Parts: sequence; structure tokens; C-alpha cells
Amino acid sequence: MGDRWYSEAVVYCLDIDTYADSDGDGVGDIRGLIGRLDYLARLGVTCLWLHPIHPSPNRDDGYDVTDFYNVDPRFGTLGDFAELLHQAQNRGIRVIIDLVVNHTSDQHPWFVSARSSPDSPYRDWFVWADHEPADRHQGMVFPGEQNETWTYDRTAKAWYYHRFYKYQPDLNFANPKVRAEVKKIVSFWLQLGVSGFRMDAVPFIIELTEPGNPDSPKDFEFLTELRQHVQWRRGDAVLLAEANVEPDELPTFFGDGGGSGNRIHMLFDFMLNGRLMLALARRDPEPVIEALRDTPTLPTGGQWATFLRNHDEIDLSRLTAAQRDQVYAEFGPEEHMRIYDRGIRRRLAPMLGNDRRRLELAYALQFSLRGTPVLRYGEEIGMGEDLSLPGREAIRTPMQWSFKPNAGFSTADPEKLVRPVIDAGDYSYEKVNVTAQRGDPRSLLSWFERMIRTLREAPEIGSGSTTHIDVPMPAGVLAHRADGPTGTMVFLHNLGTDDVEIDLGMLAAEADLPLDVLTDRQYGEVGKLDSLKLAGYGYRWIRLCRGDTF
Ligand code: GLC
Repeated sequence: MGDRWYSEAVVYCLDIDTYADSDGDGVGDIRGLIGRLDYLARLGVTCLWLHPIHPSPNRDDGYDVTDFYNVDPRFGTLGDFAELLHQAQNRGIRVIIDLVVNHTSDQHPWFVSARSSPDSPYRDWFVWADHEPADRHQGMVFPGEQNETWTYDRTAKAWYYHRFYKYQPDLNFANPKVRAEVKKIVSFWLQLGVSGFRMDAVPFIIELTEPGNPDSPKDFEFLTELRQHVQWRRGDAVLLAEANVEPDELPTFFGDGGGSGNRIHMLFDFMLNGRLMLALARRDPEPVIEALRDTPTLPTGGQWATFLRNHDEIDLSRLTAAQRDQVYAEFGPEEHMRIYDRGIRRRLAPMLGNDRRRLELAYALQFSLRGTPVLRYGEEIGMGEDLSLPGREAIRTPMQWSFKPNAGFSTADPEKLVRPVIDAGDYSYEKVNVTAQRGDPRSLLSWFERMIRTLREAPEIGSGSTTHIDVPMPAGVLAHRADGPTGTMVFLHNLGTDDVEIDLGMLAAEADLPLDVLTDRQYGEVGKLDSLKLAGYGYRWIRLCRGDTF
């Protein structure tokens, strides 16, 4: 394994409150998660990304923090958290946490003080305007649920800025005290032993908001400062950022200090996510090929984080209207499956009609593309969504562990659960759960274990370079390769429904006993690579050769 652990990691994200409840109060907790670490180790994940763990009124599922130096008492204590870090480390699993510092909750003591008086020491920690800003109704992140970004506060007798919901006032990063405090927060958690942070809403953190200017300047230097600070405090810590911006802006987030990245280590590849959805909807790999081609060059140490599903809606805003409509027609045909005029609030299994072949295809493709794969809890068993829940809660239901009541998530009365368990239809916990799949070598869970094990033997994917193999292919098929000092892997994924035959004979000269290492079925010998069979929705991961290092 290379020195940069994050390049060859498998990241698994989860909400503590919906994962496992150890004390029967209906809310998942840290001790519950500790009890599931062996499961996660067996699955093969190497890094957990925990959604916000801090005390919160929970109006935005924890993304509205009231104390950055503690854990939500519903989840346990700081002592429990330290134990989690220790137990995870014992199993070779790292932990990163969400760092949500673009804003606080409006109930955070800093904001309570700030609004109480212009003389409050925290007044300048937030962003104020004395008069109604002209851009009051611009820049909302949650259209339909939010109609302004500036709200008048009667106590403060002033307008405050909030990029997100109005109960999430933005911190003022032009204030050196705020910047110093964020560094202190980061240091605190690094000192406890986390391996880094998933940074929430980074383009908005660095925005130096000017009332009336919807295109306020951005202060990228803060990211340089923060990176230096983090790396001094813990050499192997990483920053993984949410920055859903135009592709030409992305390199600035990675930074470039003379060829090496000097800001964010890893960025979620939102562009690829939208293109993957379009490719799956069209059964045509062209959008993925375009995404690979258009990817900006990364500085040394920069890395993409790939994903199919996360805790938010699938954001299709970077597709054209016609492309978006195609994805909607295929994966979100009903109005209530969509949200914010730009996305889909569903899990992948129902989007793909619970078609096992297509699910394997989609995840095999994601995990074989350049970057570090991120997997959302429950996807490994093919969980569904509950569209009767509001907004994004539809995809935030409790983990389905077993046939026991409440899916084995909690022993509480069902009405006390943090969110209802899915207990009807094709995705009910009686049909989809870990216990049922654990002992079945043909289950989706067993497939994920196998696929992740195979990935761990193919470091070229995370650390090498990935290119499209640009030779004539049957419709629907993507061929790509990953090259690194450890050797070369070749991948074939058929997004279409027809069985096909592929000629990759031109690669034979590079091959050294080529071998199928992950396939949807037995295909027989790879041979001279000139007549490779591939079923509809099939895939083949082929090791072409090993490098000199082995
Ligand atoms: C990010 C999170 C999202 C949250 C928002 C506000 O986009 O992913 O869940 O609502 O930030 O913090």
C-alpha cells in the first residue's frame, strides 16, 4: 500500500442515529456502532465517515450544530467516542467526521449572544446587514423549502446571512477569530484521534459575503492555512470536501503549491456522479467517457472520491435540462421521488428496479473508476427508501440488521424510533437484512465483500492512472484501464442489455497471464483477449499484468 492511505481506502458513511441502538431508547448510538465494527471489518471498509456527531436541535439531521466540542448526548459521551476510535483502529479502520463550520445552529450560544446585542463579543462571528440586501432572495440551496438567504432578526434589529436554512446562520470567515476557532475545533478532534474531516459546504465557507453581492469573493487562502494547520497537527490526516462547483473551479480547491496539492486532499466527484446516473439511465457509457476525459488534472496527492449515493439527494443540476429529464424518466418518474428541482431522493436498489445484475454493474463500475470509493450504509444489502418521509429523510431510515422487530436496529417501541424502519414491500427488513445475506454466498452483501477484497488487491485503481480504452466497442460497453507501479487492470462494463463480444487483442502484448478477477458470471479463459464475451449488464475485471514490485 502506498503512503497516502486515503488513495487506497474504501470509505463507508453512516449516521450514528440510524445505525445501531445499544440502549433501547430508539436512537442509534456510539456503543451500538462499536458493536458493528466487526461487520464493517468483514465487509472490508477501511475508513468510516460519520455524519455530524455534535449536539444539535436536529432540524437538519445534525448539520445544525450547537457545540463543536462535544458529541450529541443521544449518541453517548466523548469517552464512548474515544473508545470507538480505539476499537476501530484495532481493526485497521480509520474514522473521519463531518466538519460543519459554514454555519451554526441558531441555537448555538455564539449566535444567541451575537443577536442579543451589537456589543456582543460574538456579533462579528456572523454576517450582518443593517438594511435589506438586494440579493435577499438569491442563492438558496434548498429551493421549495427556503425562500431567502438573508433574514431579518427582530432581536438583533439587523439582517443575518444564511446560505442554507434560516436556522443555520453563516459564520463570518472574514473574522480572524472565527478562523482561529475553526482551527481549534479541528485540533481538538485530531488530538482525540480522528483521521480527518469531511468538510461540509466548502465553497460557502470561504465566501466573504458582501450584502447585495450574490457573487461575493472567495478566500481560498483559508484552505491553504487550514491544510497546513491540519498537517502539522497530524501528518496523515485528510480533508475530504464537498464542493459541488463547475469543473474549471475544482483545481483551485485542491490548490497547487509547486506541483503538490496544498489545500483539500480529496473532493467528491459530483460531476462524475451525475454522468454515471445519465449513463445508467441511457444504458450508454458515453457520459462517463466524457467525464473521464474532462476531469481536470490533479496536483500530486489530490484524489477524487467517487460515489453513487450519499445522504443527500442525487444532484442532477450539472446536467442539461434534457439530460436531467432522461434521468428523471428512468429513475425518478414520480413527482414525489424528486426534490429541490434538481434531484432524486431515492436509494440505488429501487432506482434500478431491484435488478441484481444492474446493481452489481453500477457498483463494480463506480469502484473501478479512478478515485476512492465512498459507500453509503445499507447500499451493501440493497436497502430501499421510504417516500412517505419528508425530504431527504426518505433515504435515512434505520439500518436493517435482521428479522427481529425494528430490523434488529433497536429494542424500543416502534413509535419511539428516531425514524421508522422500512417494514413493508420489496425492501422491508423481512426481505432485506444483514442476517439473511451474511450466510448466503450469493447475496448482494457477499458480493460486496468479494468485490471490495478484489479492489484491495488492485491498488492501481486508487493510486494509479485511469484511462478510457479508446477502441471500437459494441454499443453499451465501457472499457477502461488502471495503470500503476503494481501493474495494470482492465475493466469491461456493459451498460446495455445485449450480450456482446469484445476484441482487446491489441493489449495482448502487454499481458502476462491475463486473468478474470471479478466477473458477473463464469466467462471461461481470457485467452488472447481478442474474443471476450460479455453478457448484458455484465462486467469483467481483468488483471492484465503485475508490475515489477511484486
Ligand atoms: C451539506 C450536507 C447537507 C446539509 C447541508 C447544510 O450539503 O450534505 O446534508 O443539509 O450541507 O449543512
